[in-house]
Amino acid sequence: MRAAAAALAQLIEGRALPEALARVTDEHRLTGISRSAARDIAYGATRRLGTARALAARLNSRDPAPEVAALQLVGLSELLVPQRRHEAVIVDQLVSAARADAALAPAAAFLNATMRRFLREREALEALVAGETEARWNHPGWWVDRVRQDHPHRWESVLQAAQERPPMTLRVNARKGTVAGYLARLQAAGRAAVAIGPDAVLLEQPCDVQELPGFEQGDVSIQDLAAQMAARLLGASDGERVLDACAAPGGKTAHLLELSDCRLTALDSDATRLDRVRETLARIGREAEVRAGDAADPSGWWDGRPYRRILLDAPCTASGIVRRHPDVRWLRRRSDLATMARRQSEMLAALWGLLEPGGTLLFVTCSVFRAEGEQVIERFCAAQGDAKRLPVLWRWQDETREHRISHLLPQSTLHRDHDGFFYASLLKRP
Ligand SMILES: C[S@@+](CC[C@H](N)C(=O)[O-])C[C@H]1O[C@@H](n2cnc3c(N)ncnc32)[C@H](O)[C@@H]1O
Repeated sequence: MRAAAAALAQLIEGRALPEALARVTDEHRLTGISRSAARDIAYGATRRLGTARALAARLNSRDPAPEVAALQLVGLSELLVPQRRHEAVIVDQLVSAARADAALAPAAAFLNATMRRFLREREALEALVAGETEARWNHPGWWVDRVRQDHPHRWESVLQAAQERPPMTLRVNARKGTVAGYLARLQAAGRAAVAIGPDAVLLEQPCDVQELPGFEQGDVSIQDLAAQMAARLLGASDGERVLDACAAPGGKTAHLLELSDCRLTALDSDATRLDRVRETLARIGREAEVRAGDAADPSGWWDGRPYRRILLDAPCTASGIVRRHPDVRWLRRRSDLATMARRQSEMLAALWGLLEPGGTLLFVTCSVFRAEGEQVIERFCAAQGDAKRLPVLWRWQDETREHRISHLLPQSTLHRDHDGFFYASLLKRP
């Protein structure tokens, strides 16, 4: 709990949760079960931060010091999980955690008193905060307003999906075997799973990657279904020149090369993240030209030869993948939306010049906000006379015919479990 609270305090200060947890687990020398427990508690507290904060505001007569506040939020968050552990045990553990740290020990009595008051007055307190937007939805108020405005009929399910724990979805390497073959290997290893896409398998229970048959040999990778649609939708063929313009850490790069022998350039502005692309390519045994460069300024890296296909998986707020990265909602600012949309438009405009006439560009973001999808594409097509928007078609596993898709909102039904993504396919008129 102490380690989780230290990580949560860093998140509240603006640090990404995975990075905060890595630092804290090092400092506290956590390994094995205590490390996963700290991670679990910190992720839970992040998912319930809105409710816990609203409750703390009702319980406290003045603001505690940040490290005490974080421990209190962790305690409240743990108490909010229905019947996880006995409530008295949680309170005892929290108080012991405070006593074990010289800086927190003076706050032990305060923490004990506020937790016990919460348990005594729980119903009334929960009713009091239920009407507050951040407490109800565990997202910043501006984010809730924007989702509501963008998706008037689906906003509640979008916000609800963000609260759920993500499933583990695998991508079967089409060069190494079939989905049916991999399902049989999983079954033999005692793991239940179902097929949810042409290359996608959903595991009933997440597990460590090392436990997946053939992971090290590149037979399978971890990737959400919506992310797996990109390579299929780009539809590159053998021998075509293809640009993956925002490639790191290389999930879609690898998929593209599993599906065809295209001549691929994997570009990213972050040279460090490109090492992960190289590692992934080595694991699956495929090759690409891996380059560091700015997609919005091709003069620094382009060799002047046009591409037949371009995948622009543009940087965005990542609002569509918050069930996997629950910290993102607390780290973003309202102003990020306009900044991101502007960068996306700049990249799109710059990359259009690199596309061969008759070629296609697939624009992708993992966002639920229209500003980072539909609106970027509408503006671009209105200004770019030679751009024609093509229908994006997908056949879901539980259907026999194809459907037109563009903005996929997060969903977690059995055969359609995926994050939120936006897709637009643009043809450059010959
Ligand atoms: C959504 S992620 C890409 C995920 C990747 N396509 C995959 O499937 O694993 C966006 C990437 O864009 C990169 N990026 C941001 N600004 C960029 C720019 N100006 N030029 C090229 N890459 C950029 C980021 O470093 C980040 O790796």
